[in-house]
Amino acid sequence: MTQPADRTAYPDGFLWGASTSAHQIEGNNVASDVWALENRPGSLLTERSGDACDSYHRWREDLDLLAGAGLDAYRFSVEWARVEPTPGQVSKAELAHYRRMVEGCLERGVTPVVTLHHFTSPLWFRQAGGWTGPDAVELFRSYVRAVLPILDGVEWVCTVNEPNMLALLTTLVTNPDVVGRERSELRADELPPPDDATGDALVAAHRAAREELAAVPGLRSGWTVANQVFQPLVSDDAETSARAAAATREWAWSREDRYLDAAKGDDFVGVQSYTRTVVGPDGPLPAPGDAPRTETGWEYYPESIGHALRHTAELVGDTPLLVTENGIATSDDAQRVAYLDGALDAVRGALADGLDVRGYLHWSLLDNFEWGTWDAHFGLVAVDRDTFARTPKPSLAHLGARARAARA
Ligand code: BGC
Repeated sequence: MTQPADRTAYPDGFLWGASTSAHQIEGNNVASDVWALENRPGSLLTERSGDACDSYHRWREDLDLLAGAGLDAYRFSVEWARVEPTPGQVSKAELAHYRRMVEGCLERGVTPVVTLHHFTSPLWFRQAGGWTGPDAVELFRSYVRAVLPILDGVEWVCTVNEPNMLALLTTLVTNPDVVGRERSELRADELPPPDDATGDALVAAHRAAREELAAVPGLRSGWTVANQVFQPLVSDDAETSARAAAATREWAWSREDRYLDAAKGDDFVGVQSYTRTVVGPDGPLPAPGDAPRTETGWEYYPESIGHALRHTAELVGDTPLLVTENGIATSDDAQRVAYLDGALDAVRGALADGLDVRGYLHWSLLDNFEWGTWDAHFGLVAVDRDTFARTPKPSLAHLGARARAARA
């Protein structure tokens, strides 16, 4: 159901769209570190990306579906491993491919939101030490410089997707306490915090990228941060509540807040949220056994995006906010529609309270490769894994109708 209040709730120019990332949909990202990880015997990633959704060839069809439904923004990523498959060798043909995608958006009246790094790096970069390698920041800067010519007319650029998760993933693949353990054995409260040195390098890489991007007229740059909506346990016992509040602040700083703090003064910050995590005096608590859960095992909690927007605003001050990801892994599309409505209510509430939210981009346009599994269905559109045929789900039309109502 569209809501009559949508007409007045959203500011002019509010973006309505969906997000994807290259490795998760393009297929055959063979020069990347994650491809190597997937294809290593005993990998933490149990399934492989393979041909993915073949969006490398079918991106026009994807864009037609998005625009045809009434959405007006598409977030996609440029793949560093394709643009620079070996150090210093920039592929003009790959840049031309991504330029065609930018133009494909503009021709359809769709605002491109371009991410320059979404979890994957070229394998050579990882082998040279990754983000803590000696020249990491300058190597990233030179990749960003190579991409500049295709960004003409692009207004929104995300430098690095979820640096906090990226730093955590680095821990996962390198920390001796974690390497070799089964994915299902890994619980959030046991994981070491993201590696601080990686975090420092990512902040520096983000700043270097923003310096380069400033050369493109009209371009706004920022990064996107995974908001995990850490909520302190509220107990009848005041001391327990106070300890939980202190533990939440400490837990959140290295895993999230330091990355939000670094976004202060950027042109915007991307807000990404899916669920919440309640934190007790000794760390995160599992959701109660009877809490509804999604295919990823996360608690069903559509309000999360509202909390994430407010939390981000507290840390970044006046920096504009853009919801760059929010969604649910489910095979029950009616549940996705209900989640969407709950999330959009939360966004509307944040706008009504005066937060400067510039758009809502749903994760994801397509059912895609969820970093080691194909069993998490985040898409507004289903994709046949053999034929790559796309089948839009009712949730796509629903989000499009909400967008149209807001623009009416
Ligand atoms: C990432 C996406 C991922 C999604 C759902 C975010 O952490 O940016 O790549 O698929 O969440 O897990």
